[in-house]
Amino acid sequence: MTTGLFITLEGPDGSGKTTQARLLAEWLTAQGYPLLTTREPGGTRIGEAIRAVVHDCAHTEMAPQAEILLYSAARAQHVAEVIRPALAEGKLVLCDRYFDSTYAYQGYGRGLPLEALRTITNFAVQGLIPDLTLYLDISPEVGLQRRERSGGELNRLDREALAFHQRVRAGYLELAAAEPSRWRVIDANRPPEDVQQALRALLAEYLVAVK
Ligand code: TYD
Repeated sequence: MTTGLFITLEGPDGSGKTTQARLLAEWLTAQGYPLLTTREPGGTRIGEAIRAVVHDCAHTEMAPQAEILLYSAARAQHVAEVIRPALAEGKLVLCDRYFDSTYAYQGYGRGLPLEALRTITNFAVQGLIPDLTLYLDISPEVGLQRRERSGGELNRLDREALAFHQRVRAGYLELAAAEPSRWRVIDANRPPEDVQQALRALLAEYLVAVK
C-alpha cells in the first residue's frame, strides 16, 4: 500500500459502532495492516475540546449553524493533523464517523440545506473522501433502547426526539443509495457477533479487490 486507505464507519446512535470498530481494528491488526483508528468529533487535542462543547447537554441554546461549524472545525483539524499524514504513510485509517454524520444529523436530522453543508464540508476536508463507508443500519427505537440500557452518558444529540433519529436513519439510507460504490449497508439489528462477521466478510472482499 503506498497511499493508504480511508475507511469510515457510520450509523445511528446505539448501532454498536464503537464496539464493532474495536473488533474490526483487532482483526485488521492481526492480519498485519498498518492501522490507525480514530473518531469524530475528536481525534485531536483541539477536536476533543470542540467535542466537549458541542455535546454538552447544558448547551441547549446552540444554533444549528454553530453546531455544523463546530463539527466541521473539529473535522478540518482531524484531517490536517491526523488523517492525511497517516494516509501519506500508507496506513489504513479506520474512522468512527466522518462527514456523512454531518449530512445525516445536521442535514436530514436538523433540516439544514445539504448544499450548504457540502460547501462547508469540502472547505473543511479539502477533498478527502473515504474510499469505503460501512454503515450499520438499525431502527432508532432499538438503537436508543440499547443506548439507554448500556447506561452510558447521553449526549445532546442522543436526547433528540425519536422523529429526529428517524430522519437521520432515512438520510443515511438515502446517502448510501446515492453512492453505492462507496457505501456498504450492514444490518445491525442482530447479535454483535453476527454484525462483526458480516463486516469482516465485506471488508475482506473489499481489501482483496483493491490490493
Ligand atoms: P458519540 O458519543 O461519539 O456517539 P456514537 O457512538 O453514536 O458515535 O457521539 C457522536 C454524536 O455526534 C452522535 O450523536 C452524532 C453526532 N454527530 C453529528 O451530529 N454530526 C457530526 O458531524 C458528527 C461527527 C457527529
